[in-house]
Amino acid sequence: MAGLNDIRHKFLEFFRREGHDVVPSGPLVPNNDPTLLFTNAGMVPFKNVFTGQETRPYRRAASAQKCVRAGGKHNDLDNVGYTARHHTFFEMLGNFSFGDYYKEEAIKFAWDLITKEFALPESRLMVTIYEDDDEAHGLWKKIAGLSDDKIVRLGAKSNFWQMGDTGPCGPNSEIFFDHGEKVPGGPPGSPDEDGDRFIEIWNLVFMQYEQHGDGSRTGLPKPSIDTGMGLERIAAVLQGTHDNYATDLMRSLIVASADASNSDADGPHSVSHRVIADHLRSTSFLIADGVMPSNEGRGYVLRRIMRRAMRHAQILGVAEPLMYRLVPALVRQMGDAYPELRRAEALVTETLKLEETRFRETLTRGLKLLDEEIGKQQGTGVLPGEVAFKLYDTYGFPLDLTQDALRSRGMSVDQTGFDAAMAKQRQDARAAWAGSGEKATEAVWFELREKAGATEFLGYETETAEGQVVALLVDGKPVAKIAAGEEAAIVTNQTPFYGESGGQVGDTGIVFSADGAEFPVIDTVKKLGDMHVHLGKLARGQLAVGDIVEMKVDKGLRDATRANHSATHLLHEALRRVLGDHVTQKGSMVGPERLRFDFSHPKPMVAEEIAEVEAIVNRVIRQNTEVSTRLMTPDDAIAAGALALFGEKYGDEVRVLAMGLDDAKPNGTYSVELCGGTHVRRAGDIAIFKIVSEGAVASGIRRIEALTGEGARRYLVEQERTLKEAAGALRIAPEDLPSRVVSLMEERKRLERELAEAKKKLAMGGGSGGGAAEEQAEELGGVKLIARKLEGVNPKDLRGLIDEGKKKIGSGVVVYVAVSEDGKGAIAVGVTEDLTSRYNAVELVKAGAAAMGGKGGGGRPDLAQAGGPDGEKLGDAFKAIRDAIKPAS
Ligand code: ALA
Repeated sequence: MAGLNDIRHKFLEFFRREGHDVVPSGPLVPNNDPTLLFTNAGMVPFKNVFTGQETRPYRRAASAQKCVRAGGKHNDLDNVGYTARHHTFFEMLGNFSFGDYYKEEAIKFAWDLITKEFALPESRLMVTIYEDDDEAHGLWKKIAGLSDDKIVRLGAKSNFWQMGDTGPCGPNSEIFFDHGEKVPGGPPGSPDEDGDRFIEIWNLVFMQYEQHGDGSRTGLPKPSIDTGMGLERIAAVLQGTHDNYATDLMRSLIVASADASNSDADGPHSVSHRVIADHLRSTSFLIADGVMPSNEGRGYVLRRIMRRAMRHAQILGVAEPLMYRLVPALVRQMGDAYPELRRAEALVTETLKLEETRFRETLTRGLKLLDEEIGKQQGTGVLPGEVAFKLYDTYGFPLDLTQDALRSRGMSVDQTGFDAAMAKQRQDARAAWAGSGEKATEAVWFELREKAGATEFLGYETETAEGQVVALLVDGKPVAKIAAGEEAAIVTNQTPFYGESGGQVGDTGIVFSADGAEFPVIDTVKKLGDMHVHLGKLARGQLAVGDIVEMKVDKGLRDATRANHSATHLLHEALRRVLGDHVTQKGSMVGPERLRFDFSHPKPMVAEEIAEVEAIVNRVIRQNTEVSTRLMTPDDAIAAGALALFGEKYGDEVRVLAMGLDDAKPNGTYSVELCGGTHVRRAGDIAIFKIVSEGAVASGIRRIEALTGEGARRYLVEQERTLKEAAGALRIAPEDLPSRVVSLMEERKRLERELAEAKKKLAMGGGSGGGAAEEQAEELGGVKLIARKLEGVNPKDLRGLIDEGKKKIGSGVVVYVAVSEDGKGAIAVGVTEDLTSRYNAVELVKAGAAAMGGKGGGGRPDLAQAGGPDGEKLGDAFKAIRDAIKPAS
């Protein structure tokens, strides 16, 4: 009996021999396809190849594609566990022709593979075709020799396939396997076709059209082929069962679940084991492809699947979380075919364990409430909508989990009541918000948020993505379209652009469309916590709500911001180590150029402390460990050692960033913080960390500014250049600069002193003996007066010179004026002791200063000093003083 892994291999090898490129599975989150929640068919990664938007080096391909059908157009979640063939996760085998072969070869390949390679008896096979597809009818007769009664014509409902509301599509033909009379059920198209007897095993789609959003359909560039064969189904057929869960791979997971829970795989809990086996696959593969449980979008679908499985684990009565213990069994089965699963094993394990540990606490209480409520319903068979809503709102029970819990008791939920309770809560939230004093203009965001929902942020994983425009705003008002030149705000269903929050600036970049619209994004902000709004001006073309756009974040700037943000975390921790645990974050600003970090600390940091902080941060950078991101409750995060951030609002769940190694810490991690920002992949991506300033912002709060990566490198280069220039000017080596500067400063002081001395001497007439001064004394009403301008003398030296002048003159008045380079006058007056009863130096100096435009003057009766702005009026000053000594008669 061929195992599932062999069947997959055989299929791909068959088509490889037929000239097909075997292409690895695309991710479960479709690249650049906002129209799909998850990859739900093998052709999804090739969508644009069919429509001609994209070309590949091959025209024939084959793949085994991971698919999830839960939420969105194809939702199988509610049935999983109860039926033989519903899955949330399955693998689709497919062969594709992009304008190469068409119906005839497709039918021939299919028939050869199943009848020869897989050796299914022809008598057990039959097909359906689209009602008017006579060509297919003829080909099935010709190639397979099927009789007319084995070729059933059906309408578009079953035999026209399309990927979603838009995308490539066409008529199809399905191959059915007949499990034989012992299994109840009728052939396709018959009233009891839903039975298990006739099972569709392969769908051949004859791709011809592209379905557009407006309902129109255009032809594909060339007719093409898309086929899909569920691996689990064909494995069931080849392994002689009609139950997918009885195939080798699914069975091994069921057995793992039974072993881990110590219960019988086929006993009363068989449904729970099937649910767990299926959901283990979808959750593990989704996590491996980067989806994390959350309360919106894809993350919420993941959470619903996880929680449904976890409730079934609880039904099994195991005391400990179960799901994570099954991961090794899954990796054993599927890790070879899907290496990404093996790579993500640790992340998957950790995420499942956390989610289940947390959910268990509320699950028990919620189920108790549910039991009580069921008791109250006394056999009505319907649970009131408000109760289901309370379970959802308070206990985190997704509606489908409640429905599933009720199902085994033959009960259902009053869905209308549930919807009404949900609507009421939204309304209350809105009323509460409206009263919160926010600006009225912001009301528009609330309406948008309700209509468009949260923006899914893809920027942790990618800097480029497609999005669909869900709203356009001009001057704060929603509009249907915008034209070139208009300033606008764009909201899309998903975005790689980070909206300003948590101190990290919003991303910049460009949004453009295939029709030539170009919208440079100058900033991205967040509204109502989770709606990303792109701001800018449409440079060319036009954009309308509903348009699909390509969104590109400026990667260089984002990378620089990442480095600065991660460095901020390392800095925070280093400050606590160097300065103490009193250091807490008081604010931060992280942009591409630099980072700024405010923290509590009572005094300036000294140079050694700054150097030590830099050394620690750079040491952790060089460890170059991977930066890990996990989702936890705020309490768990704090318990794990996370430092709470300043002013952040936390929802149900927080992102926890861990960086660096520290053996001394219990968790072995250097820094653990809660953070919604974008970060480097490895610490080494920060490259260098350099503090450029430390100062005060408020009492008890310090601010550090720092650079990383290229910014830090440039800064250091600039510093070195300055150093070299200075050393070059002195013709010395840079390392001699400090001692040379000190000796130059000392020399300069000495020279200044000597110069001042020399100038004084020069001003006083060249020195010794003092005869010159006496010569210049004049007689004024019997009093000797010296009144001179002293060239090149510093005003502060005037007083000393006055004393010398007084000594030389013996008895009299000495007036010296110095005029500085900027033209200001300084004046000093000395009166010898014997004359102070007649003349007051203070009054004389005031008179002189007034003549130079100055006010006031101070000193003692024997020595006073003053200044005035108009030094060139010194002649007037002398005259005023002379007049004061000898009043004009
Ligand atoms: N794309 C086709 C399907 O999913 C083959 O059934």
